[in-house]
Amino acid sequence: MRSRHAERLAGPRRICQKREPGLRCDAGCCSIARRATNGRRPGEKLLSTLATTHNGDPEVPVISLENVHKRFGSFVAVERANFEIRRGEFFSMLGPSGCGKTTMLRMIAGFEEVSAGRIRLDGVDVSTVPPYRRNVNTVFQQYALFPHLNVFDNVAFGPRSKGIAEAEVKRRIGEMLEVVRLQDYATRRPDQLSGGQRQRVALARALVNFPSALLLDEPLSALDLKLRQAMQLELKRIQREIGIAFVFVTHDQEEALTMSDRTAVMSEGRVEQVGTPEEIYHSPATVFVAGFIGTANLIPVRVVRSASARAEVELAGGQQAQVPATAGTFSSGDRAVVMVRPERVKLSAQRPENGGRWCTVPVTVTEIIFQGPVLRCLLRDSAGDELTAHIDGAERPPGLAHGAAMWAVWDTAAVRLLPPRAQG
Ligand SMILES: Nc1ncnc2c1ncn2[C@@H]1O[C@H](COP(=O)(O)OP(=O)(O)O)[C@@H](O)[C@H]1O
Ligand SMILES: [Mg+2]
Repeated sequence: MRSRHAERLAGPRRICQKREPGLRCDAGCCSIARRATNGRRPGEKLLSTLATTHNGDPEVPVISLENVHKRFGSFVAVERANFEIRRGEFFSMLGPSGCGKTTMLRMIAGFEEVSAGRIRLDGVDVSTVPPYRRNVNTVFQQYALFPHLNVFDNVAFGPRSKGIAEAEVKRRIGEMLEVVRLQDYATRRPDQLSGGQRQRVALARALVNFPSALLLDEPLSALDLKLRQAMQLELKRIQREIGIAFVFVTHDQEEALTMSDRTAVMSEGRVEQVGTPEEIYHSPATVFVAGFIGTANLIPVRVVRSASARAEVELAGGQQAQVPATAGTFSSGDRAVVMVRPERVKLSAQRPENGGRWCTVPVTVTEIIFQGPVLRCLLRDSAGDELTAHIDGAERPPGLAHGAAMWAVWDTAAVRLLPPRAQG
């Protein structure tokens, strides 16, 4: 284990003997090793200061939550959360306001105690370790910069207060300002910077401590849309360049999809699914996830029979269709929900030849909305359920008109069969 870790660190290094995994070294002795990170070829000029020598075993998750539970009185804010955050990944926690994201982040940082369960940093149980000893840093929505200090001194505050030699401080801050592209602003005070620039100072200040993970609680929500989109890409670049895990909280599903390697989707204190953006979009685990990420048609059905990885369901209009279903999840007679994304729904004036491949549902077109690349068609089936189809604007089917009776058609393979929304 030790030798593999040592192999990964290139070049001369001074290993901190005082630090334990997961915990911050407060001895002020830690120096920085340079190493090539993602996307940088050997020999290419290193722009950034990267990764402390004690960055931990690459095989051990940076953060792991085991049955983490949080109660405020009788109210359950986080319910038995179990997931891991890997070294160097961009991980987001996504869910509507009040679902427990901030509480989860505060428990990881140590500002909030867990009611039950365990949190590990770099493999070490830190559930009872105070925040200042945990090797994570948090960027809050309010950047809380020192108004009277310039950019350089704001970022240097932490390293200097640890007693790190001034030459080392200069080198470290210089490199960090280059990573966040503020090298030309080192002598400005916060009130001489834009919102986006202040944000980068806050980021540099948190990263200069070389935490195992950086925790960010809705850091972009105060910015206007354009700056916000620019900062999303910028944050992603910075994260990739320094290779430290980012744990990013947001209620904005588009933001989570844009930025994350993996996302935990939360609802009412529960982690409903953890996965890559593609997994979450194409294979949502629950009706909540399907509806929260993008647009989803959620059609209530009854399971006629279920066998191995398929189930037969009855759609409005009486057609029975074989759809993919996780083996053992459904029995005949169960209520279930068919999920199909609007871009997978086609419209046709005639019912297509079937052969078992297509789900076909008779619908009435209730609205056609021009949205540039797609026509958003709102439909109603014979059971009164609303459906949406996104039709390619260049492939408008003959007969598509407001009030027309048509067939909504989709590939049975495009469907996910989900349990109905949990009651209570
Ligand atoms: N200190 C507290 N005391 C009581 N309830 C709290 C406390 N902190 C958070 N909550 C409640 O826990 C739930 C989750 O809050 P929070 O984690 O802030 O949600 P989010 O960040 O997802 O919006 C909310 O219902 C909130 O009111
Ligand atoms: Mg919050």
